[in-house]
Amino acid sequence: MQPTSSSPWVEKAKRLAAEAALSMVQNVRYLGVGTGSTTRYFIEGLGKIQDQFDGAVASSEQTASLLRQTGIPVLDLNETGDIDLYVDGADAFDPHFRLIKGHGGALTREKILATASRRFILIVDETKRFDRLGDSVSVPVEVIPFARSYVARQIVRMGGTPALRERYLTDNGNQILDVLSLPLADPSQVERQIQCIPGVVEVGIFAERLPDLILMATSSLVVERLKAV
Ligand code: A5P
Repeated sequence: MQPTSSSPWVEKAKRLAAEAALSMVQNVRYLGVGTGSTTRYFIEGLGKIQDQFDGAVASSEQTASLLRQTGIPVLDLNETGDIDLYVDGADAFDPHFRLIKGHGGALTREKILATASRRFILIVDETKRFDRLGDSVSVPVEVIPFARSYVARQIVRMGGTPALRERYLTDNGNQILDVLSLPLADPSQVERQIQCIPGVVEVGIFAERLPDLILMATSSLVVERLKAV
């Protein structure tokens, strides 16, 4: 079954996956919080357990605003040191737990937080699961505007088809190229190759820092704890 993101069960599944992650906020001082509609449910639930941690580092201005509305102190990663637990969604994942992220535009801060955290839990619905990342969604690349065209040409040489995300700037003041058809037989190698292009800030392939646990809610509205292959 390949459900569409517009299927009515998807919103329920996102909420279920997010609620399952709430029970894992234990022995946590500093929490990292991702960006997107699934993490929005997680933030809603955090309001009820905010006495269990000191505060959260947000992966985007949008998430920071939601956290403040929920009454949760928003902290600066430069002040906290490493994070105990990072919880975030994704746009796609494969059986090896490699991810594509950044359709919400927050990929750079998301990768920093995932890497700076002792534990990374991914919360997703079943529509995000793919056998191969190359069969899934476009790959976002955050670029310094000055280098946009240069980076795009290098990506074309790698076999991808980049398109500028129109009328969009990241929280870091940069632009995003959404890359279709990028050959992804070796996601780690492609992640490193794109990171090495001057002008690239970050790429939305997460093949190095993998989630420690994926909580995936299915179309039957059951939350599965997945194990990496
Ligand atoms: C944000 O930049 C992305 O990496 C999100 O994590 C991703 O788009 C998932 O969003 P949803 O939970 O809305 O599907």
